[in-house]
Amino acid sequence: MDKMDDFFILKSSVVSHDTLSSGSVSWQSPSNIALVKYWGKHGEQLPQNASISFTLNNCHTKTTLHYAKKESKGFDFEVYLDGKREEGFEPKIVSFFKRVEKYIPFIHEYSFKIETSNSFPHSSGIASSASGMSALSLCLMDMERLLNPHLIDAHFFFKKASFLSRLGSGSACRSIEGPLIVWGGHKEIEHSSDLFGTQYPYEIHANFLEYQDTILLVDKGEKQVSSTVGHGLMHGHAFADARFSQAYDNLSQMKTIFKSGDLDAFIALVESEALTLHAMMMTSHPYFILMKPKTLEIINHIWAYREETGSKVCFTLDAGANVHVLYPKNEKEEIQLFIEKELSKYCQNGQYINDCVGNGAKKL
Ligand code: PMV
Repeated sequence: MDKMDDFFILKSSVVSHDTLSSGSVSWQSPSNIALVKYWGKHGEQLPQNASISFTLNNCHTKTTLHYAKKESKGFDFEVYLDGKREEGFEPKIVSFFKRVEKYIPFIHEYSFKIETSNSFPHSSGIASSASGMSALSLCLMDMERLLNPHLIDAHFFFKKASFLSRLGSGSACRSIEGPLIVWGGHKEIEHSSDLFGTQYPYEIHANFLEYQDTILLVDKGEKQVSSTVGHGLMHGHAFADARFSQAYDNLSQMKTIFKSGDLDAFIALVESEALTLHAMMMTSHPYFILMKPKTLEIINHIWAYREETGSKVCFTLDAGANVHVLYPKNEKEEIQLFIEKELSKYCQNGQYINDCVGNGAKKL
């Protein structure tokens, strides 16, 4: 453990542990969509390159953490999704608890009931791990604050919530605050860190305010290759080093774009990032493809529409077949009409979600 990790452990000599017997805390936490992608990790959930994402507004998870003090040691919890016990989620929570126990040792002293629900359809292919892990981390931080009210200020609270979220699911550390979050150390971005997400600290042109993201649900099935396996395949990948330094340079370029508001440069960079992410998958050993034929149909339609109309609409992808359609707020009406008329037919059951950039998690 290095010095910075250590910073997140409240020292027992100064911990005042007020008694906290039972109760509950609730948080709502958003999903996020990366513009410069994280793909490849090392150590304990540390990114191979810096990434940046828009925090979303409408796609979120609400989590209530019920806690009750117990005598015995060890983890004790149950998870409920939409009111129904979800034992399938529990192994992921156990590994999360194992990773965070040294930072929040009080988790051994309580039995928990974790009640969670998503604003987006279950198994929509939208990763609920970012919003889910960040909501749970915020609830745990709320408990830590109740236990140590004098030691925890807002700055430490959100920083440690992001740090814990990262240990749950890497990109979840970008789901605490908004509107633009950097994760991964980058020399040109002050305070950026591999350990937690930080708010992008420089000027953002008005073109990017309230940027829109419509998520087209192309394939709601289980992914053939999980993110965890995909990240792992970047070890020894023939193009890994080139990819990590490209992402680093792209983030430098993004800084210029955010300042100037140059939407053509934004489109070129964001679409290249999305296709490069999938190119890494297709050139892994073993290779795999997460896009579906309809993903490509949608991309071609977006390119044709842009060509015909001069629109600034573009796409990005996460680790799946769904397409995130990104566009500035002043094109909202036309693009949403275009999506309904031309793109919804490629979505499973015609389903898509209109979202936009948001400001981060909320305490409920
Ligand atoms: O946080 P993970 O392990 O689910 O990985 C997310 C990876 C991408 O969504 C593909 C890219 C990113 O930066 O969010």
